[in-house]
Parts: sequence; C-alpha cells; structure tokens
Amino acid sequence: MSELNKTNLKGRDFLSLKDYSPQEIIQLVDLGLELKQLKKNGVSYKPLEGKTLGMIFQKSSTRTRVSFEAGMYQLGGHALFLNANDLQIGRGEPIEDTARVLSRYLDGILIRTYSHEEVEKLAQYADIPIINGLTDEFHPTQVIADLITIKEHKKQLAGLKFAYVGDGNNMTHSLMIGCAKVGMEVRIATPHDYAPKADIVALAKEAAEKNGGKLLLTTDPKEAVSEADIVCTDTWASMGQEAEKEIRQKIFASYQVNQALLNLANKEAIVMHCLPAYRGMEITNDVIEGAQSVVFDEAENRLHAHKAILAAIL
Ligand code: CP
Ligand code: NVA
Repeated sequence: MSELNKTNLKGRDFLSLKDYSPQEIIQLVDLGLELKQLKKNGVSYKPLEGKTLGMIFQKSSTRTRVSFEAGMYQLGGHALFLNANDLQIGRGEPIEDTARVLSRYLDGILIRTYSHEEVEKLAQYADIPIINGLTDEFHPTQVIADLITIKEHKKQLAGLKFAYVGDGNNMTHSLMIGCAKVGMEVRIATPHDYAPKADIVALAKEAAEKNGGKLLLTTDPKEAVSEADIVCTDTWASMGQEAEKEIRQKIFASYQVNQALLNLANKEAIVMHCLPAYRGMEITNDVIEGAQSVVFDEAENRLHAHKAILAAIL
C-alpha cells in the first residue's frame, strides 16, 4: 500500500503552510481523504511501524492530542504525551538541548506552545521532523483538516468563497495562507484592532494572486459573508488571552455567526469552527447545531489529516 502516499515530504517539518506549496497542500488533503476511506473500509495501513512521536503540550488540547495519538497508533506507530511542565523544559532546560536529546529517541515531535519562534528553534536544533500543533501565530494541522472537510462537502477547493468572521488569530493566519494557496476567494472580517498580522496578510495576498484566489480584509461581517460558500469562525479569546475575555466579548459582539448573518451566505453554505466553541459568543447554538454546520466532520477530519501528515513526513 506504499503507492498511497504520493507526497515527497519525508523528513520535512510541518511548522506553517507558508513552507508548503499549493501542490503539497493538495496532496496532503487528498491523502487524508484516501486514508479516511481506507479506515471506513476497515483496511489497515501501517507505514509507521516501530516509529515514535513525542507530543509536547504547553496548552490544553482535546482534538489535537487525541487524534495525533490515535492516528500514530492506527499507522502502526506509537505516541508519547509529554506535558511540558513535567519535562525539564518546565524547569528551564533550553529548547536547543531538549531538541537534540529527543532527536536521539524519537522519530518526530508534535509541539503545542505559545511562541512560534520556540517551535522554529526546536526545528532548527532537532534532526527529526517537527509538527506545529498550534502556536499563538499558526495552527496549520487544523487547516489540512478544514480543507479535507471543504473538499468532502463542496467537491472542490479552488474558486470557493471562504468567509471568516471574528478574531484575526492563529486560525485566521493559517486559513488565509492555506485557502489562498488552493485558489479560494478568502474574506476576513475582524474588528479594526484585531486584524490578522500585516506580514501574514501580505504573504496570503501574494499566494492568492499566484494561485487564482483573492483576499479581502474588512471590518464588516456582512461584506465577508455575502454569498460565501463557507462561513467560519473561532473563539474571540484564544488560549493565553483569558484575561481579555470580557473586554473582547464587548468588542466582538457584532461579529457573531448567527442565523441572520448566515442568511446572507450562499444557501448551500457550510459552517465551520475548529472547536472548542463558545455558544452564544462567536457562534449561536442554533447555527452550530443547525443543518449547515459541519463542525463534527471537521473535528473528525483532524484524525485523517494528521495521519496524512504523519505518513508523509515521518
Ligand atoms: N481545534 C483544536 O485544535 O482543538 P484542541 O484544542 O482540542 O486540540
Ligand atoms: N484560536 C484558538 C484555537 C483553539 C484550537 C486558540 O488558540 O485558543
């Protein structure tokens, strides 16, 4: 079954979609879809026998942690959950030393932390592939799952209108890059002071121009959602921003994905959210539980996306 993996990504880090070409992103999406089908058919595929993934978590996680661990197991390998506070990095051992030591035991490391630079440093000093399981700046594994979900429901990627409403955060950054690279029309609506970072916007704009997509930034949720094929949101206060929760609820109040906003989208539009969701804040209960919501397919697809990434790079 080795012909399944048509990627040429062995040994690569997976830190950001910046580093992946449109073709490589699409190959991962297609591999994820194939692995999903295989799993549904009860066929086992174990290219990672004897391989171990270390998973360092400095922030909470349900989906990323469990789907990577289950995914490694399904691919014939093994995963180790490493709470950062229990490692010596929690007591100040440098990431450079941790990287070199763990490289002697493991075949890959997944890390979820705050600073993206920390993950880059880990990758620089490790000689095994490093996977970014979320930083303050990016959440790239989520976007492979999101693209799988969109392709499943819409049968295409290029040419679709993708609207994101809410905070210009790590999800926004990764979605902008990923969706622009596959040729979508990306619309991002955030409050003025919560727009995505300018350097990442510039990068996504360039990617959109190169690949037949578009990028629109606005402060008007209605403009973003109008006739969209996909309506997506995320929490208004990401991990690490707990202290700003209340003030953010006020600032973002008019950026809620509710039925009135969704009515402006294409009738067949799907609603996405990486989860965890805060009902009554960024999304209403009726919309997330409604017929257009695909959030649990999206969550399931983390498993298939992660298996694709692991099978490709480890
Ligand atoms: N969407 C996502 O990354 O979920 P977790 O925080 O539960 O991993
Ligand atoms: N933006 C959110 C995503 C959670 C998966 C966060 O960083 O907390």
